[in-house]
Parts: sequence; C-alpha cells; structure tokens
Amino acid sequence: MKTKIALGLSALAMALAMVSAPTFAADEPVKIGFVVKQAEEPWFQDEWKYAEQAAKEKGFTLVKIAAPDGGTVLTAIDNLKAQHAQGFIICTPDVKLGPSIVAKAKIDNLKLMTVDDRLIDGSGKPIEAVPHMGISASKIGEQVGQAIADEMKKRGWKPEETGALRISYDQLPTAKDRTDGAVAALTAAGFPKANVINAPEAKTDTENAFNAANIAITQNPKFKHWVAFGLNDEAVLGAVRAAEGRNFRADNMIGVGIGGSKSALNEFAKPQPTGFFGSVLISPKRHGYETSLNMYAWIKDGKAPPPLTLTTGMLTTRANVAEVRKEMGL
Ligand code: GLA
Repeated sequence: MKTKIALGLSALAMALAMVSAPTFAADEPVKIGFVVKQAEEPWFQDEWKYAEQAAKEKGFTLVKIAAPDGGTVLTAIDNLKAQHAQGFIICTPDVKLGPSIVAKAKIDNLKLMTVDDRLIDGSGKPIEAVPHMGISASKIGEQVGQAIADEMKKRGWKPEETGALRISYDQLPTAKDRTDGAVAALTAAGFPKANVINAPEAKTDTENAFNAANIAITQNPKFKHWVAFGLNDEAVLGAVRAAEGRNFRADNMIGVGIGGSKSALNEFAKPQPTGFFGSVLISPKRHGYETSLNMYAWIKDGKAPPPLTLTTGMLTTRANVAEVRKEMGL
C-alpha cells in the first residue's frame, strides 16, 4: 500500500514537473537574448556590459542583438529560437509592437521580459503579463525639473525671461512621463507654463533632439535664457548644442538630462562647463545585470521575475558625479 502511494505521488510529481517546465532539461546550456533598440547609445552598451557580467557569473551564454526597427525585432526572436535560447530581455524600438512580440515569443517558446520601455497593447495599456524593469519615470522627471528650478533660482533668472525646451517623444510612455514630471516640478516652483516650448524629436538621439531644439529656439527669440530637459542625456545634449549655435552657452542655458552614462561624463569632463548642467544618474547595472539574473532564475528554476520593478535615480553635476556613481555601485 505504502509503495503504491509513493509511486502514485512520484508519478504526479513528474507530471507536474513536465507541465511547469516543458522545454528545459537540467543539463541544457542556458542561452539568453538581450535585444536593444539603440546599440550605439552608451546606456544600452552599459546594459549589455552588466548583462555580460551576469552571464559570466552564472555561466550562461548571452546573445546581444541590436534591433532598431520592428522587422529586425521579429527576425531576432526567430534567430534566438534557432540558436536554442530559452528566453530574452528586450528594449523594443516601438512599444506598439507589444502584441506581436508577445505572440512571437509564445510561438517560439521563449520566456520574455522587457527593460526600459514597456510594451503596450492595442488600446495603449501596458501589457502587465510581461515582467518589466523600468525607471520611476515621473519621479525622475520631477528630480530633473527641481534641479533646473533650483539652479535658476541660484542664478537669479527671471522665469518670465526664460524658455523651457521640452524635448518630447510622447509616443513612448516613459518619455512622456519623464518630461511631464519635469514640467510639473518646474511649474510647482513658479515657472510659467506658457514658457514651456514643446520640441518633438523624430528619434531619440542627439541629432534629432538638436533639430527639434533648433526650430524651437529660432521660433522663440524673446527669451534671454533657456533651460532644457527630455527623456535622456542625448535629448538634452542635442538641445545644448542647438543653444550654443544660437549663442546661449553655459551661463544662459541649464540642461539636465537622464542617464548619467558616458554621454554625460564626456560633457562633464570638458575643461569649460557647458549648458549641460546635470544628469539624473540611473542604473544600467540594475537594468542589465539584475534583469539577466532574473531571466536566468526563471529558465533554470522556474522562478518568475517580479512583474514590475521601477528603479530610482540621483542627480549628478560636474561637482559630484564621481561620488554619486560610486554610491550607485557603478
Ligand atoms: C529609454 C531611453 C533610454 C534610457 C532608458 C532608461 O529606453 O530611450 O535612453 O533612458 O529608457 O530606462
């Protein structure tokens, strides 16, 4: 009788194991894809670097793929399948690809996690079934706005004589939340909303931000000073370069970015300060290393990642960037 029950139980355990882990054999090597939308951007290179660190520590293979458009994303997923990967982490070039990415991952039997930019469904709502790690966008945007407001006050600028460049990319929710957060903090500090000039960029890189800012500055010749913010350091760098071209330099421009990686560090390292006043440092380590460890545990032990993780940031300027990076373990 005893043996019968034991046999019955072990059969049940085996059946359950097969249901919860249908594809992964314990001795199969783990392979994880890390797909990013803009491989040339330092933020994404850093994410890859920290993902590699996780791969080395745990002994899995990391497949790094650059996917700047929808077609490449879908091919990348099929490629991962062909290479016997078990899962991937993605920052997609377009969050509206959400339903296609989810469907493709499902057909190819790959575990899926997103980083930075969260997938949305047909009605624009986040796809909550896909585990995601992003930044606390509104809060970090508010930190940017507050830093600008504080510096304006320090310099004694009159808000009515100052224009604010909102380098926008509103089709991406995290970008909209970041810039809206900055506007909220600025206006709460007494900045006139009418002086916030929307400058939409066509792509989230420095060149497109430059073009957007250039038009906005030309169309608003009445301002004596400018401030600028956007979704990342590249957006603000574009604005800073455009302002320089119109003779608004360090003493007439306050730009605060988000990222704090190489783009910001290069700027801070220049012998003379520029209009790039600061950057809210966020953690490529958490976004690259931690997501990879989460994916590894999911594949290896069937432990699903937390559904949503939002990371924080800290303001850096020329004066404190080294200390703050150290404090964040970078
Ligand atoms: C978006 C931006 C990147 C970076 C990440 C951080 O993907 O395009 O520049 O700021 O968010 O999560």
